[in-house]
Amino acid sequence: MATYLVTGGAGFIGSHLVDALVHRGERVRVVDNFSTGKRENLAGARGAEILEGDLARSDVARAAVSGADVVLHQAALPSVPRSVEDPVTSNRANIDATLEILVAARDAGVKRVVYAGSSSAYGDTPVLPKREEMPPRPLSPYALQKLVGEQYAQLFTHLYGLETVTLRYFNVFGPRQDPSSTYSGVISLFVTSLLEDRSPVIYGDGEQTRDFTYVTNVVDGVLEACRAPDVSGLVMNCATGRRISINELYKSVRRLTGASAEPTYAAPRPGDIRHSQADISRARQLLGYEPRVTFEEGLRRTVDWFRLERSGQAVR
Ligand SMILES: NC(=O)c1ccc[n+]([C@@H]2O[C@H](COP(=O)([O-])OP(=O)(O)OC[C@H]3O[C@@H](n4cnc5c(N)ncnc54)[C@H](O)[C@@H]3O)[C@@H](O)[C@H]2O)c1
Repeated sequence: MATYLVTGGAGFIGSHLVDALVHRGERVRVVDNFSTGKRENLAGARGAEILEGDLARSDVARAAVSGADVVLHQAALPSVPRSVEDPVTSNRANIDATLEILVAARDAGVKRVVYAGSSSAYGDTPVLPKREEMPPRPLSPYALQKLVGEQYAQLFTHLYGLETVTLRYFNVFGPRQDPSSTYSGVISLFVTSLLEDRSPVIYGDGEQTRDFTYVTNVVDGVLEACRAPDVSGLVMNCATGRRISINELYKSVRRLTGASAEPTYAAPRPGDIRHSQADISRARQLLGYEPRVTFEEGLRRTVDWFRLERSGQAVR
């Protein structure tokens, strides 16, 4: 049985990874500083070891990695607007912590590090869909920091022989995504607003598009990336290959919630990109990755979960 370390395991995506690994009967350790993550996200993760600490500290990173075979590095401050407002704090979480994890993993003889990359690295490259070999054009501190993290991972593969794989996630959504701040993911904000029939804010004209990816598709991709042969040092998109506009998303959520509120339009946010859609052929070919849950099905599950959450009945 292998030991998996999930950094940021109390967060949205990390906690779904923890659940999947626990369900499979693996040994799981979580490290998190609970800056955006929540203890209740780990309520179902029976048997997982939980360490609290800031991974930008080398002693924390070393303690977390000790004895781990595979590291799923999910910890980050994952917000474009937050990074525009306070680039230093997000730099510490997104770059310093990543470097500490890579050094600790190298020294501890970890077999593989799977890094949570971000589609934001593509920035405003005009070509769609986004393919991994396109030159990155980050538009925000967050995008740049996530790109530096993946390049550090590749460097560690080439310099020290540490196996690393980066999956660039595209707009992940699903149960447990935090809707509580303006930094939150758009789907969690729309769903929670419309369940209360409150008007959500759309930044820009709403015709910007995203490749919205249900969280279990990402979990599938990451678990494949842990074991696929001949992928070390590579970067792969993890998404669905479709794109949906924010206006379309709004209409779908309104239909599913039965709300009538109209959106409020506001000025576009600095650092936001216009269109995003992945080419997922590399992950298909090298990982056997297939997004099994469609956008529509994922959205239905997400609305159902937030509805239960509001009534205090959601299974965390
Ligand atoms: N959600 C998305 O759409 C999306 C898209 C692309 C990439 N990603 C990446 O996926 C990963 C997970 O994102 P998420 O949406 O689950 O976010 P999240 O905020 O829910 O999870 C991040 C977790 O990392 C923890 N953390 C932050 N800084 C830390 C530190 N210094 N030490 C220890 N723990 C720390 C937080 O407390 C939190 O639990 C991130 O690396 C993010 O950049 C997410």
